[in-house]
Amino acid sequence: MHLRADELSRYGETLGRTLRAPAVIGLSGDLGTGKTTLVQAICRGLGARALATSPTYALVHHYDVAPPPPGGSPVYHVDCYRLRSPDEAEDLGFEDMLREGAIILVEWPERAGPWVPPLDRHFKLSYGADSDSRELEEIP
Ligand SMILES: Nc1ncnc2c1ncn2[C@@H]1O[C@H](COP(=O)(O)OP(=O)(O)O)[C@@H](O)[C@H]1O
Ligand SMILES: [Mg+2]
Repeated sequence: MHLRADELSRYGETLGRTLRAPAVIGLSGDLGTGKTTLVQAICRGLGARALATSPTYALVHHYDVAPPPPGGSPVYHVDCYRLRSPDEAEDLGFEDMLREGAIILVEWPERAGPWVPPLDRHFKLSYGADSDSRELEEIP
């Protein structure tokens, strides 16, 4: 799918509105292709509110969807880009997130090796023909 920035945002917002917890979503693609932009749009669609970025591990951002539990559910945005080896992902807390029944949005899931939970959906972004377009595909 060929998307400009506003279209990518709209796609993410729509996806966020339809996502139901628990869910693990992977986002792959080179730096600057729009993974974080897509995550932020998904969070807007979910109605997610930023809670905190883990002080010990700035790769994990924690959100909450309104209304609060039991109506809502936790949302985690995990960026594995800066992992130096997959084993560093052992400490990211994926097991706890799964136990909470969270929605987990993972950038660079391949960098977490076996520590990343099975992906329910996996999207790949790449650069488009011009500087403000991107290609988005869902990996089956
Ligand atoms: N069609 C597009 N979709 C998403 N981002 C785009 C698009 N066109 C240009 N951009 C720009 O590309 C950059 C993507 O950055 P970001 O989302 O942080 O990428 P990543 O997380 O993949 O490294 C942003 O500066 C954004 O404004
Ligand atoms: Mg990013």
